[in-house]
Amino acid sequence: MNVLLIGGGGREHALGWALAKSPLINQLFAAPGNAGMGDIATCVVLDVGDHAAVVNFCRTNTIELVVVGPEAPLVAGLADDLRAASIKVFGPSKAAAQLEGSKSFTKALCDERNIPTAAYGHFTNAADAKAYIEKHSAPIVIKADGLAAGKGVIMARTNDKAFAAIDDCFDGAFGAAGAEVVIEEWLEGEEASFFVLTDGKTMVPFGTAQDHKRVGDGDTGPNTGGMGAYSPAPVLTPELIQQTLDEIIAPTVTGMAARGTPYQGVLYAGLMITKDGPKLIEYNVRFGDPECQVLMMRLKSDLLKALNAAAEGSLDAIKPEWHGDAALTVVMAAQGYPGTPKKGTEIRGLDTASDTDGVEIFHAGTKRDGDKLCAAGGRVLNITSIGESVGEAQKHAYAAIEKVDWPEGFCRTDIGYRAIARENGED
Ligand code: AMP
Ligand code: GLY
Repeated sequence: MNVLLIGGGGREHALGWALAKSPLINQLFAAPGNAGMGDIATCVVLDVGDHAAVVNFCRTNTIELVVVGPEAPLVAGLADDLRAASIKVFGPSKAAAQLEGSKSFTKALCDERNIPTAAYGHFTNAADAKAYIEKHSAPIVIKADGLAAGKGVIMARTNDKAFAAIDDCFDGAFGAAGAEVVIEEWLEGEEASFFVLTDGKTMVPFGTAQDHKRVGDGDTGPNTGGMGAYSPAPVLTPELIQQTLDEIIAPTVTGMAARGTPYQGVLYAGLMITKDGPKLIEYNVRFGDPECQVLMMRLKSDLLKALNAAAEGSLDAIKPEWHGDAALTVVMAAQGYPGTPKKGTEIRGLDTASDTDGVEIFHAGTKRDGDKLCAAGGRVLNITSIGESVGEAQKHAYAAIEKVDWPEGFCRTDIGYRAIARENGED
């Protein structure tokens, strides 16, 4: 098959790496791809906002499957326009992508289907939002309703902080995403990510992971897109996985189909494991980044076969197989991230680093400058590893990082610490 992969981050490098291993693959194209993907894909320049151009590209290159990595093209309806042109695509329609595109949409579905989630209110003006905060009191969580690139969530420990967040939202701090806000109960517990492939009917669990969102060791400092992750998530026991499937995922998939907007693609549930069981924090309509990198490292069976089955409605024939080992990824970021990352600095030593046992290096934000490899983003490299335990995988990843010669880069030194403490019986 000829496949077009949309996106160019670490998630797409990992997806491309797994797709390229498939016996079914003929040619793999990536738009735009990245500087690390040259060995596995033909990277092409394509304006993914121009859906007619994407359709044309697919026709010219006899693309049989389009795999969409990030959420923005899905929320913009790329999958709908491809399907209308009879091109198979892995990823939900615009209507179904509302599960990530609108927090109030997801909350309403939770109400309709009795899906466990934080209690909430949805507001279009500051006065009513503040009255709700007065009534329910901090700690409380304020969320801009639309897509805000991971920045639209404010965890308020005091009512004053919550009021200020409401003013920020309605004053345009998050652009159009903040014109409506959702205010939620602050859930206590351990967070975990749960991935499911679905074709709209069949649901196939596709791994669990946990990530580290804060920039600093010990989970301190500002939030980021994710500084590292590991899989599986030890907190998600087989019983909790079944409970999540029954109480959260199945009613979502059934509910979306009943509304006439079946969900097809990967459903990424961000969960809080509370003392009352798993509760949904949010849905994403794509793989997580960097969670995808650890899932791909553990996946033993054919990714292309699975994604293609989801796209054509034959997932009932798919049983993914996984390496029993744990996988872990450490994000190397450019100094300044998550503020203004330093751009253009040279990275050396990747060949030696990637020779480390059990290690794959995925690029997230690099570019070639002549013979040099340079940083070209905030999150730049994902040093990804596999091992018998999270602890073993962590050793491999940091051994590789020792060999990366990039003085202007940094990473957290403790990715996986909670899982490792648990492995060592310290938790
Ligand atoms: P979201 O963009 O909805 O995933 O929120 C980003 C992060 O904020 C989540 O990963 C959680 O760490 C935290 N968060 C969001 N909603 C809640 C909630 N209701 N209770 C506790 N933490 C939350
Ligand atoms: N790592 C979190 C996300 O992809 O949303």
